[in-house]
Amino acid sequence: MDTTSPRNAEVILTGDRPTGPLHLGHYVGSLRSRVAYQHDYRQFIMLADAQALTDNMDDTDKVHRNVVEVALDYLAVGIDPRQSTVFIQSQIPELAELTFYYLNLVTVARLERNPTVKEEIRLRGFERDIPAGFLAYPASQAADITAFKAALVPVGEDQIPMIEQTNEIVRRFNRMAGRDILVEAQALVPPVGRLPGIDGKAKMSKSLGNTINLGATADEIRAAVKKIYTDPLHLRVDDPGHLEGNVAFIYLDAFDPDKEGLAALKEHYVRGGLADSLVKKRLENILQELLEPIRTRREQFAQDRGYVMQLLKEGTAKARDVAAQTMDEVKAVLGLRYF
Ligand code: TRP
Repeated sequence: MDTTSPRNAEVILTGDRPTGPLHLGHYVGSLRSRVAYQHDYRQFIMLADAQALTDNMDDTDKVHRNVVEVALDYLAVGIDPRQSTVFIQSQIPELAELTFYYLNLVTVARLERNPTVKEEIRLRGFERDIPAGFLAYPASQAADITAFKAALVPVGEDQIPMIEQTNEIVRRFNRMAGRDILVEAQALVPPVGRLPGIDGKAKMSKSLGNTINLGATADEIRAAVKKIYTDPLHLRVDDPGHLEGNVAFIYLDAFDPDKEGLAALKEHYVRGGLADSLVKKRLENILQELLEPIRTRREQFAQDRGYVMQLLKEGTAKARDVAAQTMDEVKAVLGLRYF
């Protein structure tokens, strides 16, 4: 299926809801590792547009537009469509079909107890009016994962309950089948935790408006670094500085390749006598250097949208073949093979 053969036959399934451009938080949390995984595994990367609609039916256009934007982000960071299969969820009807049957293998109470769903319902103020599709999206995510018989699913910590719920469905189904047709998945949580926003909030997120996007211009990067939350107690240069919760240093930890230089910088900051502006200058240089080639590649691909759509079309066709094979096996177990 892939033109280059990975060293490891295990399948990885991962993806994003295309609701906005990707940012440094995505880069640290998943994109960086996906670029590495694609050499070693059969990696499928899904643009989860159907899942995105579960809470965006009021703005379907946003989801449509962001499918290409996120695909551009993937290509820009070095996802290689010859090594990873990038596909669009909604264009694989077998995923919806699988979801429909999996819904009979979960209870409403179990869906309501899913911690990820619970937290998202709270964040969206959905308490009273949850779309049924939103409540049920763990079943759809189980369909995504199992359709490709993925053994590994790289996700942030917040998605671990999704994998657990998927595996409950897998075990229930395999018990029905009397053999292991579906594959249990294991979450692959990246070593570096989530990146805070430039404002110091725990999470970098589009809805909080505290991101640095992968396509950010040099000016946007400069302006964002200027605004970064540091140490409110570090009022004068001579005051001793604090590293805890200091976003400039948290980002340096994530991106500065010169660990020794960084250790010396931290020591100086804590001792006092090091201006925030110097710390930020170092960070800005590093981020400019990191993002410049990403932005350039993004712009190049953006000029050839026809090519990008062609890549997505081919990836989707490949992915559909795999999903259709699993669907066939599932239907046989359910007694849904007639002709
Ligand atoms: N729920 C994931 C998110 O919000 C996106 C997603 C959908 C996904 N299906 C998946 C991730 C399957 C991993 C595996 O980011």
